[in-house]
Amino acid sequence: MTTHKLLLLPGDGIGPEVMGEVRRAIDWMNAQGLTSFEVEEGLVGGAAYDAHGQSISEDDMARAMAADAVLFGAVGGPKWDDVPYDVRPEAGLLRLRKDMELFANLRPAICFGALAEASSLKKELVDGLDILIVRELTGGVYFGEPKEITDLPNGQKRAVDTQVYETYEIERIAAVAFDLARTRDNRVCSMEKRNVMKSGVLWNEVVTEVHKRDYQDVELSHMLADAGGMQLVRAPKQFDVIVTDNLFGDMLSDVAAMLTGSLGMLPSASLGAPDGNGKRRSLYEPVHGSAPDIAGQGIANPIAMLSSLAMCLRYSFTMGDVADRLERAITTVLDQGLRTGDIMQDGMTKVSTEQMGDAVVKAMGEG
Ligand code: NAI
Ligand code: MG
Repeated sequence: MTTHKLLLLPGDGIGPEVMGEVRRAIDWMNAQGLTSFEVEEGLVGGAAYDAHGQSISEDDMARAMAADAVLFGAVGGPKWDDVPYDVRPEAGLLRLRKDMELFANLRPAICFGALAEASSLKKELVDGLDILIVRELTGGVYFGEPKEITDLPNGQKRAVDTQVYETYEIERIAAVAFDLARTRDNRVCSMEKRNVMKSGVLWNEVVTEVHKRDYQDVELSHMLADAGGMQLVRAPKQFDVIVTDNLFGDMLSDVAAMLTGSLGMLPSASLGAPDGNGKRRSLYEPVHGSAPDIAGQGIANPIAMLSSLAMCLRYSFTMGDVADRLERAITTVLDQGLRTGDIMQDGMTKVSTEQMGDAVVKAMGEG
């Protein structure tokens, strides 16, 4: 079996706690011969700042660039509120995204049957939900120039943000969405606002073109992004893969997240441009932050981080069978009634971070 290099960046707050469970899952998978990972650990965020004054060191950046995949915990917390802007904890994550050119952000919204009651929607609307939002992450209005606030002669101010997309940026994110759809239910819905935005017109044209050229076997539909938001809360199960730009993707993926109940359950993947060997750079992280309110108590939910590991197995190493096994184990422990505090329900068994991690590894061993 080929040995793959994983870099773990636990970060701050509950980051190291949930990463600890990932580490144990990896050790177990290695011991079983299911995987052959060589694991390194680095510092990011406030932890890195405390150690050497940067939010990520050049050394750890180099290790991230060289790794076959990076697993990231969470960064930030009140302790670092007053550190200078360019070395604040978030800067470490932004640097990783930029240097690894992570242009495709994958946010699944999966609703576990056992937790369907925690959704803000009716159980029948979300039970069995399994959609994937593919958000463009390195372009669009968050990065377009000009981006400024200027003073006007009349004493008022004028703020400008610029939405910019070029053909290649849309082509590559569309290709990721179509490729992923082929491994799922083979349907892509592209969302933009071509009725009021030129970038939406181009987005629509390019996605249609990529579909016609390379992906005619995949079903493609288009929706205006505002209508898409409505449909997400009206009938979310109609979607399989949604592909959209940076801004709409930010909002729509947060909406989709709430359909599934808890922040502590949601993984994400960010995929980059291929490196010299044709392999995509990739980073996997939970959607949640460092949760300073519960850090250090051993009660954080490790499932989002463990699900991020499952995505890593699937997308970086084509170990879909091991990923399936890990995800089945998560479903099993939820069906057994085990709950961390954040997803606790009447009549269920409250467990710690470590007990949840143990139970998932044990369930993996059983099937
Ligand atoms: P948060 O996601 O850290 O926490 C929001 C709420 O959800 C808290 O009540 C927290 O206890 C709970 N929660 C989150 N994850 C949980 C888990 N795994 N198990 C149980 N409960 C969980 O978001 P918040 O409070 O807005 O931000 C806290 C810090 O995290 C800030 O410094 C923020 O900048 C940072 N942050 C970092 C992110 C990252 O590293 N990618 C993403 C979001 C926030
Ligand atoms: Mg957001």
